[in-house]
Amino acid sequence: MTIDDAFNRTAAYYDEWIRRAVPAYDALFTVALELIPFSPDTAVEVLDLGAGTGLFSRQVLERCPNGRFVLWDVAERMLDTARERFRAYPEQFRYVADDYRNLPETGSFDLVISSLSIHHLADDEKRALFRRVFQVLREPGMFLNIDLIKGPSPYLEEIYCADWYEKMRRAGAPEEEIRAGIERRNAYDRDALMEDQLRWLAEAGFGDVDCVYRNYKTGLFLALKGRFRN
Ligand SMILES: C[S@@+](CC[C@H](N)C(=O)[O-])C[C@H]1O[C@@H](n2cnc3c(N)ncnc32)[C@H](O)[C@@H]1O
Repeated sequence: MTIDDAFNRTAAYYDEWIRRAVPAYDALFTVALELIPFSPDTAVEVLDLGAGTGLFSRQVLERCPNGRFVLWDVAERMLDTARERFRAYPEQFRYVADDYRNLPETGSFDLVISSLSIHHLADDEKRALFRRVFQVLREPGMFLNIDLIKGPSPYLEEIYCADWYEKMRRAGAPEEEIRAGIERRNAYDRDALMEDQLRWLAEAGFGDVDCVYRNYKTGLFLALKGRFRN
């Protein structure tokens, strides 16, 4: 099964499931929103990579109500849910049903966001995508990426995963859901180390890079192209 098929199958229940499936879900997105440097009235141009049903964009829209969004995802059905969600904003939302490895070499975005998606790429593809993100950003521009992080040793990876599945159980996830999540992870996830992700961002050209917030296997990566005035 391809990744678009895998996510098309989750579209109907995705929104309810993902909050249970990702520990520290709310904290990761809250910190991301705090970091957005644009004043709320700016018509900021936003690109959401692996936008899915549009959950990250929805939060950014609340913070930047005049923003113009491009939601890019390979899974049509996930984007259908996003289209429905943003039906009231036809002028502000555009959708691209494609693989983001096909991102163009130039663009004019102020903010690129991504959540829980780029870990599906192989490491060399992640590096190439970070370079492309740098290219499509204006200067100053910001990249906010919430994503999975590989544990730095097999022992720590095991501890982090055990913690993750235990938190899913406590959040009320049935065993069947946890098992399906593990199977999907084994089939499609290619998490990278935090240090590698930071290095690839710096190599892509970003000046200020950091993993601003981390909770075991999930992290929020910030990368700046140029400087925003304080
Ligand atoms: C776990 S979902 C995250 C969706 C959304 N960002 C969120 O936080 O709810 C991962 C999404 O990434 C998309 N995706 C994975 N690999 C992709 C690729 N190479 N190009 C475009 N989209 C991709 C999937 O189709 C899926 O919708």
